[in-house]
Amino acid sequence: MKNRKVGIIGAGAVGATAAYSLAMMGTCNEIVLFDIAEGIAQGKAIDIAQATHYAPQPTIISAAATPAEVKDCDIVVITAGVPRKGDMTREDLLMINAKIIKSVTEDVMKHSPNAVIISVSNPLDVMTYAIHKITGWKSNRIIGMAGALDGSRMAYQIYKKLGYGAGQTGTLVIGDHGKNMIPLPHKVQVGDVPTTDLLNDDAFEDIIERTKNGGAEIVKYLGTSGYYGPGRAIAHMVEAILNDSKTVISCSVLLNGEYGYSNITVGVPVVLGKNGLEEIIQMTLSTKTKEKFKASVESIQEGIDILEKNTFFDS
Ligand code: APR
Repeated sequence: MKNRKVGIIGAGAVGATAAYSLAMMGTCNEIVLFDIAEGIAQGKAIDIAQATHYAPQPTIISAAATPAEVKDCDIVVITAGVPRKGDMTREDLLMINAKIIKSVTEDVMKHSPNAVIISVSNPLDVMTYAIHKITGWKSNRIIGMAGALDGSRMAYQIYKKLGYGAGQTGTLVIGDHGKNMIPLPHKVQVGDVPTTDLLNDDAFEDIIERTKNGGAEIVKYLGTSGYYGPGRAIAHMVEAILNDSKTVISCSVLLNGEYGYSNITVGVPVVLGKNGLEEIIQMTLSTKTKEKFKASVESIQEGIDILEKNTFFDS
């Protein structure tokens, strides 16, 4: 990609950490941050720009004063949203974040009309679907960040069980980015050794549960959700796209018949390259995994149904 310019909308914990991670890797020529809350993008952009002084390669980091200044980006990462507050129902949160996503997406369409969008705001799969519907863009250009993070959390749990193989472990998690996610630890390898030669059924069950609770475990300690893991996972996806590296990563993408489903965004392994989504990889799923995948799809559909019930797509 020519400009290697990345826009990040929502310069909160996750957005800023993605920017920092990219800056430390020297992946982009330019990163521009925007946040609706005054001062956040400006302050973080200055801090990250100063950190780039010791980075392996220079990156221009700036803050946009208006959404219009996030322009001509190759990739736009959307992390804008609000966290759930005490009296909000799941439906309230969904509608609030969906409205934010709608206005942000309309800005991206105007100012970065050729971008690939990486969607991060929660509920992730539903927001990714909303962005597909709002833009009407080809489905390769909208990709949800889910499995990249959940997979790194699974690899961490496998390492914790074994005590070796850090950084050498597969990351396969499919399904939704929520309570029905489907970690597949028995399908991956540590080094070149299948985990089925290393771990027993109890260990696999434990890894699956701990992976699903990976986000909650961090909240328990910090009182807020994690951001280093999500930030790095976003950067990993950006690197694959900007470098056209054709890297296999689980992402939430729009299915068109793959895995037996259409018109739904859900996590599956895909190939990322210069066009964004290059290819959806169709794995053979066991009967049990197919059932779990169905439950995952249904839980995402429930969120989409709420948007439809509230006539979100009508205007
Ligand atoms: N335009 C730009 N920024 C916005 C908008 C908007 N319309 N609405 C909200 N924001 C900003 C907020 O001001 C805030 O700085 O989005 C930022 C979100 O950052 P945090 O609250 O720190 O949340 P974070 O932990 O970064 O998570 C961001 O990613 O993983 C998901 O569930 C998470 O949806 C959340 C998102």
